[in-house]
Amino acid sequence: MAKLRVKGIAFDMYGTVVDVGAVAEACKAVAPDPLAFNAQWRAKQLEYTFLRSAMGKYQDFWKVSEQALEFTIRRFGLTISAAQGKQLMEAWLQPTPYPEVPAILSRLKERYPLAILSNGSPKMLQVGLAWAGLRSHFRWVLSAHAVRIYKPSPDVYQLALKTTRLQKREILFVSSNSFDVVGSKSFGFMVCWINRTGAPLDPLGPKPDLVVKSFDELHTALA
Ligand code: 2OP
Repeated sequence: MAKLRVKGIAFDMYGTVVDVGAVAEACKAVAPDPLAFNAQWRAKQLEYTFLRSAMGKYQDFWKVSEQALEFTIRRFGLTISAAQGKQLMEAWLQPTPYPEVPAILSRLKERYPLAILSNGSPKMLQVGLAWAGLRSHFRWVLSAHAVRIYKPSPDVYQLALKTTRLQKREILFVSSNSFDVVGSKSFGFMVCWINRTGAPLDPLGPKPDLVVKSFDELHTALA
């Protein structure tokens, strides 16, 4: 594979740098099937970002996540207390990095300026990165909130160009989320798909430049 010659790296947050599985842990307290509950919550959370972007009815990722939780509770026929609902939401502020991420980010930041480029609200990203001990690795933390629309809208990816002053093909965008991989490649970035689960790529757009299973493999590809 030709060596990727980039000048900066931007990362998706949830599911890429941090494992949203930690939210499933919080779901154990209220849901008989926490994995199914968490999967429905995450699917609805993303669905609502797509719907709000298409409708031009932006609300921030925290609000969208609350609305997706409300749907999921009803969908599973559960009744939870306000305190339990608060605890579930706060799991998004206490994300767990994937095991290899901290060490690899430490090495990558010695060679590249690093950014987060996420649908997360500014508060979710700043609090979550601090909780995960990762904030110091990133020169920039960019939220879709700045443009009031969600990925894969080009407006969100454009934030990285404006902030880093780099060209599209000088930025490597890294995401585990297929919609984000297709959207960022359509925009014109160099793109790495972190495919930890061996999932198929959505066949609706251009393919990523690199597919890896972990940040270790990403680091090797950039060496
Ligand atoms: C993001 O962090 C939602 O994973 C998506 O932008």
